[in-house]
Amino acid sequence: MEATYHYAALKGLLRSKKRVAFVPTMGNLHDGHLHLVEVAKKHADCVVVSIFVNPLQFGEGEDLDRYPRTLAKDCDKLESVGVDIVFAPQVVEVYPGFDGHALNQTMSIALPPIANELCGASRPGHFAGVATVVTKLFNMVQPNVAVFGKKDFQQLHIIKKMVSQFNIPVEIIAGEIIREPGGLAMSSRNSLLSKEEKAKASQLHITLREVVEAIKQGQDNFKTIEEKAVKRLSDKGWQVDYISIRAAQSLKPIQSNQVDLVILGAATLGKTRLIDNIEFCAKPLN
Ligand code: PAJ
Repeated sequence: MEATYHYAALKGLLRSKKRVAFVPTMGNLHDGHLHLVEVAKKHADCVVVSIFVNPLQFGEGEDLDRYPRTLAKDCDKLESVGVDIVFAPQVVEVYPGFDGHALNQTMSIALPPIANELCGASRPGHFAGVATVVTKLFNMVQPNVAVFGKKDFQQLHIIKKMVSQFNIPVEIIAGEIIREPGGLAMSSRNSLLSKEEKAKASQLHITLREVVEAIKQGQDNFKTIEEKAVKRLSDKGWQVDYISIRAAQSLKPIQSNQVDLVILGAATLGKTRLIDNIEFCAKPLN
């Protein structure tokens, strides 16, 4: 495995590669990331993983400084699963001219209103930051395919839309959500949870499952179902950002007769914000 911090070196490493699959990450890798690598290996003869904590996608007061950085351990894990190239650029490589202050002067991708809903409602600019860095990384790595996890369902939706609307010649592949035994979706942020918080953290997933069951059993007042789920989590000490049932394909609020749905949730335990979702098929509503 080759590891580099520099775009120029990356270009050299990629020169002889035929078909490249790319897995962008922010590091502190877990089995969810490694699953995406396994998916990537099936689609190309060279797998590139980037590790870059992207400042542009963190808002003021968010956890950019607290975000866990574990590069040496990450490289060991990637080597053990047969990754070919790790690209861990410095901020100036990704944001040329960045002097530590003027990140708000960077050019960025403008997104449609879906980027201001769900996670975007409480994290203004987050998805523009994600879309911008993914575009930059695509330009640097020039992959044939790129793999993103369904754990960040809204992110995956926006990246697919962006690639289609900007005619970016990269095929986007979705990887399933990898979970802890109790149902908690694996996340780099789980390592920020205290022992007590970790013990409670699967409540988010359990609550989403309860919503799925309620709908499958014929309940169809989605607003009430969402409100009850929010209350159940709040009563257990979570600060709930949203619980929302949407159409899985469009992420729009549900119209009658839609059956492919997704329940998405975001909530904070202590200082740590977690997200999760479950795709499911409901019976036609009428
Ligand atoms: P990060 O949170 O490190 O996630 C990198 C990729 O791993 C994303 O595609 C994410 O959806 C996927 N992932 C995370 N947890 C997962 C799990 N439990 N199961 C399956 N896949 C999982 O998402 C980002 O970084 C950044 O926004 C990025 C796309 C790298 C842009 O900066």
